[in-house]
Amino acid sequence: MIQELIVSTQNKAGVTHLAPMGIHLNGDDIIILPFRPSTTLNNLLETNTAVLNYCDDVRVFAGCLTGRRDFALMPAEKIHGAVLACTLAHTEVELVRIEDDELRPKLFCKAVHTVNHAPFMGFNRAQYAVLEAAILISRLKMLPLEKIESEIDYLRIGLEKTAGDKEREAWGWLMAVIDEHKAQL
Ligand SMILES: Cc1cc2nc3c(=O)[nH]c(=O)nc-3n(C[C@H](O)[C@H](O)[C@H](O)COP(=O)(O)O)c2cc1C
Repeated sequence: MIQELIVSTQNKAGVTHLAPMGIHLNGDDIIILPFRPSTTLNNLLETNTAVLNYCDDVRVFAGCLTGRRDFALMPAEKIHGAVLACTLAHTEVELVRIEDDELRPKLFCKAVHTVNHAPFMGFNRAQYAVLEAAILISRLKMLPLEKIESEIDYLRIGLEKTAGDKEREAWGWLMAVIDEHKAQL
């Protein structure tokens, strides 16, 4: 199973980096798969630790893809690291081993500490729409414009029916990036 969440890592100087990642869960294995080049990869290799933030505020996903990474943080409890203040829960992990690859290495991690902060309040289609749109934005230069536009048109249906303020704000950030991309074509 792949869980979409926010990975926070720190370099040796203690500078925190946030990145949305699809984490593969296989039994007790937690596998982070960053595409090279990646700050998340560099930080994990430097410090051997990361925090997995289970976050339903999709502005963090859209924000990381649109140059907004100034989300409030708090210290991790058992490792040197930072936790997203708005996360519903988090797991602090340590790197156990690496399967190297020139494109997308596999970083096998183990959980050392998990904390719940707030209840999960149910699924929301607009949150799904923002996540999917954020993934499209991360591949903007690789995908044909017609594919992006047709997928966005579909995602907009669920968004318009079910979004709250946070989802609308995140969607707006992503659509601005697509507009900018179109203007440069
Ligand atoms: C929902 C979602 C899942 C993503 N999953 C991955 C992933 O598994 N691996 C990856 O390298 N990038 C993934 N991305 C794109 C990264 O978040 C983005 O490219 C980021 O800048 C990663 O590089 P970094 O470690 O240098 O920040 C994902 C983006 C989204 C929106």
